[in-house]
Amino acid sequence: MDGTSTIGLIGSGSMARAMVEGWVRADPGRASRILATDRGSGRAAELARSRGVEHVTSNAELVARADTVLICVKPIDVERVLRDIGSRVGPDKAVASVAAGVATVTIESILDGDVPVFRLMPNVAVQVGLGTIAYAPGRFTHTTAEDRILDWMRPLGAVVGLEERQFDAATALSGSGPAFIALLVEAFEDSGIVAGLSHAKARELILTTMTGTAALLQEQDMACSTLRRMVTSPGGTAAAGLATLERAGVRGAIIDGVLAAMRRAGELG
Ligand SMILES: NC(=O)c1ccc[n+]([C@@H]2O[C@H](COP(=O)([O-])OP(=O)(O)OC[C@H]3O[C@@H](n4cnc5c(N)ncnc54)[C@H](OP(=O)(O)O)[C@@H]3O)[C@@H](O)[C@H]2O)c1
Repeated sequence: MDGTSTIGLIGSGSMARAMVEGWVRADPGRASRILATDRGSGRAAELARSRGVEHVTSNAELVARADTVLICVKPIDVERVLRDIGSRVGPDKAVASVAAGVATVTIESILDGDVPVFRLMPNVAVQVGLGTIAYAPGRFTHTTAEDRILDWMRPLGAVVGLEERQFDAATALSGSGPAFIALLVEAFEDSGIVAGLSHAKARELILTTMTGTAALLQEQDMACSTLRRMVTSPGGTAAAGLATLERAGVRGAIIDGVLAAMRRAGELG
């Protein structure tokens, strides 16, 4: 990060807080370049108190002082925010939105035509610098505004460039993904308890198994089928477990769940 850009977060809810925690964790000095608003709940002031960012009392002041504006409100509130700030946003600002289902073309149609607009879909793991952030520029690419947005996103995790039409899929897979994975972890914790382990030991075993498996797949670019074969000896324990899981329809249930989340993302814009 170039150390001069100031980002203004419109909205101080769960996602804004997760991003702020990620930035401050990566570099506490960055807090002084983060501004935040809310619509009166006190969450921006709380973020300022606990993380050292600056609570500003109006979106107008935030837009005047930040070169990069990040819209972190619910999808239904995006249009009102854009109409509120529209006359104050010029081509020198970068405007990005994390709102599920709201397309850059919608944002561009409300702001002046020459404002660089970006779409992001982060997940809550940005809080620990291990987020997944789907990214798509609007009509302007390769601008200094784009460099600024990417500089702000990179400390938060993996930035994955996508075509915007793929965003509903990314919203389902990586945006909602932590909720799905947490459900799986919980099920494994329960199964460990049923199998006679303490909750703490079951959790330790499954979390380290998950991170180890992810590292193996990622670092060695290994196919899932290869890894499964490595672990599944004929007539062995993994074979017995996998056959039961497949018969119970786990794979189909996960596909159906992700598709349901994707359809929902498409309804939110
Ligand atoms: N949560 C996730 O895991 C996740 C993941 C990816 C993307 N997202 C996206 O992130 C966005 C925010 O989600 P969230 O879970 O953080 O929601 P949230 O916790 O409800 O927070 C929304 C924030 O927006 C503020 N707000 C609404 N209208 C405003 C206005 N006119 N001016 C200033 N602030 C305003 C609210 O203010 P008050 O506090 O005063 O009510 C609140 O602080 C959504 O569009 C969602 O699609 C969320």
